[in-house]
Amino acid sequence: MKVTVVGAGAVGATTADNIIRRNIAEEVVLLDIKDGFAEGKAQDMSQTAALLGFESKITGVTNDYSSTAGSSVAVITSGIPRKPGMTREELIGTNANIVKTVVENLVQHSPEVIILIVSNPMDTMTYLALKSSGLPKNRIIGMGGALDSARFKYQIGQKLNAAATDLNAIVIGGHGDTTMIPLIQHATWNSVRISELLTAEEQNDIIQKTMVGGATLTSLIGTSAWYAPGAAAAAMVESIIRNQGKLFTASVYLEGEYGHEDIALGVPVIINNKGWDRIIPMPLSDDEQELLGKSADAVRKMNQVLSD
Ligand code: NAI
Repeated sequence: MKVTVVGAGAVGATTADNIIRRNIAEEVVLLDIKDGFAEGKAQDMSQTAALLGFESKITGVTNDYSSTAGSSVAVITSGIPRKPGMTREELIGTNANIVKTVVENLVQHSPEVIILIVSNPMDTMTYLALKSSGLPKNRIIGMGGALDSARFKYQIGQKLNAAATDLNAIVIGGHGDTTMIPLIQHATWNSVRISELLTAEEQNDIIQKTMVGGATLTSLIGTSAWYAPGAAAAAMVESIIRNQGKLFTASVYLEGEYGHEDIALGVPVIINNKGWDRIIPMPLSDDEQELLGKSADAVRKMNQVLSD
């Protein structure tokens, strides 16, 4: 199977690297608008094959969409990342134009493609990709909740001195510092509820650190993170290509599920070779439902900017 990754920057290159190292796809095309950039990164990655022992092939191209023809999955990471002090929302104008054009080009050459949106503000970009492409809703998936959930598990793991892989914990809602909702009451360590193991103060600390997880890294690194975002995108691509049916929080188009409609918002979904296959209902408390409502309002306000 063939996967295209658009944007050979920090997140795109890391996504592609994860995909080829683990032989998730036979062929990866890395595309960037900057002359020679994707070619260079692809060659560098190809030269790790002898050392790491993978068979996947990767090629880099400069804005040549004919090379992407027949892709089963495309990951869109093109756009500008945020700088320290910026919110994801401030990227909207520039990234909306880029995402719209990229989606059109991808669909023209790969009409059956499943598209994973990474560019920020991700929920709005996912909504835009769906509306502008006219693709069936199941083939447009926003990556944000998978990353935020991994960061949530990291914070819980730090507090409990527990392995992140033993934790079950998800973040739903918008992919923004103030719109994400780490569901601490539902989080478990094996089968034990986290809320029974930690004080209210400790739980609150985990929630706060999770919500500013991306901003913390941006102020430390000077630009936004890429290792965990790239790993999260590659894990979702793997679930599609290998038809794994894994559960991720992903931004998908809602038509009444969780009480919201005409919006792309992070909810738990099963991901397989159809794209997102179905939304998993979770029993939310009144407080959690209220937070989701506020999160949806903020995302909707951002979507409105697209039509202003
Ligand atoms: P980056 O600046 O390292 O890479 C972006 C790349 O996109 C650049 O190489 C640029 O030349 C390319 N590009 C720009 N316009 C293009 C076009 N029209 N066609 C093809 N390529 C184009 O940025 P980075 O760090 O890789 O972040 C990429 C995006 O992903 C940003 O919008 C960032 O905010 C977002 N992001 C989203 C996350 C999520 O969880 N959804 C996590 C981390 C980043």
